[in-house]
Amino acid sequence: MTSLADIRSTFLNYFEKQGHAVVPSSPLVPRNDPTLMFTNSGMVQFKNLFTGVETRDYVRATSSQKCVRAGGKHNDLENVGYTARHHTFFEMLGNFSFGDYFKAEAIAFAWELLTKDFGIDKDRLLVTVYHTDDEAADIWKKVAGLSDDKIIRIPTDDNFWRMGPTGPCGPCTEIFYDHGDHIWGGPPGSPEEDGDRFIEIWNIVFMQNEQFDDGSMKPLEMQSIDTGMGLERIGALLQGKHDNYDTDLMRALIEASAQATSSDPDGEGNTHHRVIADHLRSTSFLIAEGVLPSNEGRGYVLRRIMRRAMRHAHLLGAKDPVMHRLVPALVSKMGAAYPELGQGQRLIEETLLNEEVRFKHTLDRGLKLLDDELAALSPDQALPGEAAFKLYDTFGFPLDLTQDALREKGRAVDTEGFDAAMAAQKAKARAAWSGTGEAADSAVWFDIADASGTTDFLGYDTLRAEGQITALVADGGQVEQADGTVQIVLNQTPFYAEAGGQVGDAGVLVTETGKAEITDTKKAAGVHIHFAKVTEGKISKGQGAELRVDPARRAAVQANHSATHLLNEALREVLGDHIAQRGSLNAPDRLRFDFSHTKALSADELAQVERDVNALIRQNSKVQTRIMTPDDARAMGAQALFGEKYGDEVRVVSMGRQDGSGKGTDGDTYSLELCGGTHVSQLGEIGAFVTVGDSASSAGVRRIEALTGQAALDYLRAQDARLGQVAAAMKAPASEVADRVKALMDERKALSNEVAQLRRELAMGGGAQTAAPSEVINGVAFQAQVLTGVTGKDLPALIDEMKANMDSGAVLLIADTGGKAAVAVGVTADLTDRVSAVDILRAVTPELGGKGGGGRPDMAQGGGASADNADAAIAAAKAVLEGLK
Ligand code: ALA
Repeated sequence: MTSLADIRSTFLNYFEKQGHAVVPSSPLVPRNDPTLMFTNSGMVQFKNLFTGVETRDYVRATSSQKCVRAGGKHNDLENVGYTARHHTFFEMLGNFSFGDYFKAEAIAFAWELLTKDFGIDKDRLLVTVYHTDDEAADIWKKVAGLSDDKIIRIPTDDNFWRMGPTGPCGPCTEIFYDHGDHIWGGPPGSPEEDGDRFIEIWNIVFMQNEQFDDGSMKPLEMQSIDTGMGLERIGALLQGKHDNYDTDLMRALIEASAQATSSDPDGEGNTHHRVIADHLRSTSFLIAEGVLPSNEGRGYVLRRIMRRAMRHAHLLGAKDPVMHRLVPALVSKMGAAYPELGQGQRLIEETLLNEEVRFKHTLDRGLKLLDDELAALSPDQALPGEAAFKLYDTFGFPLDLTQDALREKGRAVDTEGFDAAMAAQKAKARAAWSGTGEAADSAVWFDIADASGTTDFLGYDTLRAEGQITALVADGGQVEQADGTVQIVLNQTPFYAEAGGQVGDAGVLVTETGKAEITDTKKAAGVHIHFAKVTEGKISKGQGAELRVDPARRAAVQANHSATHLLNEALREVLGDHIAQRGSLNAPDRLRFDFSHTKALSADELAQVERDVNALIRQNSKVQTRIMTPDDARAMGAQALFGEKYGDEVRVVSMGRQDGSGKGTDGDTYSLELCGGTHVSQLGEIGAFVTVGDSASSAGVRRIEALTGQAALDYLRAQDARLGQVAAAMKAPASEVADRVKALMDERKALSNEVAQLRRELAMGGGAQTAAPSEVINGVAFQAQVLTGVTGKDLPALIDEMKANMDSGAVLLIADTGGKAAVAVGVTADLTDRVSAVDILRAVTPELGGKGGGGRPDMAQGGGASADNADAAIAAAKAVLEGLK
């Protein structure tokens, strides 16, 4: 039997031989189409090649494209499990020509591949063409020898393929397989066409026109080919099966599901196994691409699919979580063609497990509520919207899960009532909200969120994406068009909005008619607000826009953010568990981290912290992100960040390896934090970590500032350059600078002592302007001098010297210090009980325009405004001695 893997490679090899580039599948989350929720056909990644906007180094391509049809325009979710050919996830095989070959070759290739390489019986094949496309009909006749009754002309849009309301389009030809008259159904275009006998296997689109906004259509200069063949369908055909779920790959997953639930793969639970097998594929591929379950946008579609599968596992009687146990079977079947599955296996398993554990908490009670509600209704009544809303809001039942549960009982839900209950809840939340008056905090964002929905954030995985402008706000009000300062809201964006210490992204936005510089991004009411200045042309609401986050700036910001997590943990390891985050800033040029700790870090502690962080950076392990409940996260040892509000689920970022004694389920994680920010994917991207400051931020809170990457190296380089300058000035090698500086300081101190001494000697010896001779008053020897060239600080030593030179007496020194006067009085110890130096000083200073001063009886010091009246001051001192008894 030919496996799906063989069919995939036969297809790609065939077209490679025909000169086609084999192009890998593009991501399920389209980067280049803001109107699409998920990639739903092979041509999505080539969209701009058909219109000629973009060229690549190939004009023929082939691919096997991962596609999801759930949520958005193409939603097959509700049928999956109940039909033979619906999937939420499937692979589309395709060949493409961009202005190269056209109808004749495309038809010839398809015919040859189907009838030769795949060996399909020609007589079982028939085709449709658009009713006016004689050219295609003629080619079929010539190339395949099909008779007229096997070339069916279809006048409807079924055979005119459009990518969307505008853009490249054209007639198509579809190839059908006749499974034989034992199955009911008629050929395409007949009243019985919906039967299962004639199955479409390949669609070949002739891109020859372009459709415009005003409804007009013009021929394209470049004629192209876009084809799509579902791998599961062709697989079923080639494996002689009628049902896609009987192919080898799907069957393996169904058997894995049966084994995990100890049930019969083909028994009554067969539908459940089919749902589980299909949903395992879509959820695993989405998680591998970084989509995580949430209550908004793509994340909510993922959650809906996951929970739908989990309810079916529950219906199979599974007591324990099932989905994560099936991942190895999927990886073994599809991992070779899609390496992202193997790489993401751990994340996929954990995410499925967490979601299933969580959903199980409310599943039983929700189902009971559902049964109770139904019991109270007559059998033909729909479930009231209020009840469906309660199931959604309280028990985590997405609406389509409730509908799926009711389908088995042949009942419906009042969806209008559900919508009304949802709207009422939103209105309540809005009424409870009060703004702070900031630009990013006004009611207009609620209006926008109500009218156009919230913004889907794509920036965990990509820095470039397209989005659709849902609103423009200038001067606080909504506008249709803008050419100056404006705030822009889009349905999706790669721009991170400021939160949790991480600054908002900056970059550019380009539309067909204008260009804007985005300087900052903030968030309110679930919408990302891009603060912008239109620098070229104008931009309009409703336009598609290309968004480009400044990659260097974001890389620097996230290096700082990841380093902050490592710093947080390193501080706890070095200083103790009392360390708690009190705030942080992760800007492009630096990081700042505030934490509870009462004293400054010692140099050793700081060095240890820095060493630890750098050791983790060199370890270069992968940074991992998971979604779980806050309680589960804390139980694993995650730290919650200060000031963040946590909902019922959180993003957990883990970093670095340890020896098994750390955090996480395996004790092997260094840092585990609840965090919504963006991070490096490997710790090595941080490059280097250098602390540049440790200071007190407020009582009991310390602040560390640090640099990473090139900024850290630049800082060290600048420090080194300064040291080099010092060494050059000192004519010493850098390694000796410290000793030399110390020696210089010692020398300087000795020299300055010497200078002071010399100055005193000079002052006493020759510098005196007025030298009063020593005289004896009332039996007290008295000497007074006015000095220049000395300061007040020199006086006590001079007084001591003078006292030492006389056996007994009093001395007065007045220093003219250049505009001011300093005064000191000394009295030898034998006289202090007759006269106090303080009394003499108090008599002296008023004459010099000063007051006060003080000291001890043997030595007093003071000052004055000027030494001009030194004579009067000396006379006042003498008067004190003359007055002695
Ligand atoms: N793009 C075409 C389709 O999706 C081939 O059917």
